[in-house]
Amino acid sequence: MKINSIKFKLCVLYVGTLGLILVGYRAVLYYNLYQTLYRDSDTRLIAKATEVRKNLRIFTAPFRESKRAVIFGARRMLGVEVVYPDKEQLMRIEKVWLKTREELGLNKDYINLLNEDGKTIVSSPNIDKGLSSFLEAYAKTDNAQPAFYNIVYKESLNLRIIVMPVEFADLGKYTLQIGISTDPIIYILRERISKSAMSIPWIMLVAVIISYLLVWRILRPVKQVTKIANDISHKNLSARVNVRNIDQEMKPLAEAFNDMIERLEESFTYVEDFSSYVAHELRTPLTIIKGETEVALQTDPSPEESKLVMESNLQEVERMLKTIDHLLLLADMNYRKQSINFERIEVSEFLKDICEKSTILAAVKQITINLEVSQSKIELMANRNELRRLFFNLIDNAIKFTSPSGRIDISVKQQKNKVEINISDTGIGIKQEDIPKIFNKFYRAANKEKKPGSGLGLGIAQSIVRMHQGRILVNSEPNKGSVFTVILPVYQLAKH
Ligand SMILES: Nc1ncnc2c1ncn2[C@@H]1O[C@H](COP(=O)(O)OP(=O)(O)OP(=O)(O)O)[C@@H](O)[C@H]1O
Ligand SMILES: [Mg+2]
Repeated sequence: MKINSIKFKLCVLYVGTLGLILVGYRAVLYYNLYQTLYRDSDTRLIAKATEVRKNLRIFTAPFRESKRAVIFGARRMLGVEVVYPDKEQLMRIEKVWLKTREELGLNKDYINLLNEDGKTIVSSPNIDKGLSSFLEAYAKTDNAQPAFYNIVYKESLNLRIIVMPVEFADLGKYTLQIGISTDPIIYILRERISKSAMSIPWIMLVAVIISYLLVWRILRPVKQVTKIANDISHKNLSARVNVRNIDQEMKPLAEAFNDMIERLEESFTYVEDFSSYVAHELRTPLTIIKGETEVALQTDPSPEESKLVMESNLQEVERMLKTIDHLLLLADMNYRKQSINFERIEVSEFLKDICEKSTILAAVKQITINLEVSQSKIELMANRNELRRLFFNLIDNAIKFTSPSGRIDISVKQQKNKVEINISDTGIGIKQEDIPKIFNKFYRAANKEKKPGSGLGLGIAQSIVRMHQGRILVNSEPNKGSVFTVILPVYQLAKH
């Protein structure tokens, strides 16, 4: 997997997010456990301190005569050697106390009593001199409220201590400290951390595997598209991406890809057909030129014969040049749509001019051209040269495919915001099955009639009509005649 791949990035995103959630969740759990454990130990410490304070007062009572009553009481209470002023009374107190001490688990606890100056006056037997002076640093409490500290003594003794003020009406203020070991808490928390540390890498590993499979599944269509794109060449354009089982988000991409190949396939077929037509069209005159030239060279012709050969060759060359001109024109029209200049053209005047010029050509075949224009002015937005070419092509066909003494009728009609121009002739007509093909390049249905032409005229006409957002229709019956109808949008009909 490469670092700059979507696969890698998605995997990192998935595993990273999961890892963060997991670590965050564990941290919250750990913090909650930490809080609970310490809150619990603090509750116990408060209970212990309250009970010790109460008993301290009880134990102090028998020593009231002495100024050092609190010290004596505390010593007695904590089992440190002291003189007995009233043995019996103390024995009773002691009996109850020992039971309480047992119940509250005070035997192992660290109990320390400090005087007003913060100096240790009495400690339980498990507190040595060093620890007692260490504890003196934690004597402060605010507003007579108990305070809690976590302390570590000599790196091995971990204690949670409560610091509670103890006030005697006539004997002054003291501070009581009780410490309990935090080893169990530390043990539980460490255990939790090590368990998490052990499990997180495994969970992450599983996450990596799952994310890899997931990403692989998500990106499968991309692979499929890539594979098909790689397989495609001009010889194999039939491959398509199977869009049936593809994910919703990938469908538009796959469909667009399929459409693109479809269009490519159409274009390739068109280019192939077109090239073979062009080759065929140019091959025929070239073969004629070659044949005639070869014969002339072999037979040592007279100047007259040479002239005839050259004339014939010139005709073929002219035919080829015409075909090439038409092809260039067609290609040009398809590519320069945007840069064509349009101007306002009045249809009737324009057609009158074209008819006048065509009449000269038609007269050769004794064909009459009749123009029937509408009374009102109809204007178009068009390119004058292209529009001329369009109607000359249609009239040229009408003359070419109509027998002598025939007739050509041109009429103009306005239909809402469209103008309809009909060019009908009394010519040979077109067979029904040929009609869809006559606009194809190089198609000449009347070829059997040996009419001259390259079969590009109607293709050019159609391109011109499309360029003007119009349509061209054909209606024809063999041996009766044809009607070519050009429909073009009228220029700003509302104003006229
Ligand atoms: N008015 C018409 N009457 C009968 N057939 C027609 C008519 N116009 C076109 N056709 C048929 O359609 C074919 C294609 O016409 P198109 O104008 O494209 O080519 P062309 O006239 O043969 O050659 P070019 O126009 O390139 O000199 C013609 O060869 C002919 O068979
Ligand atoms: Mg023509």
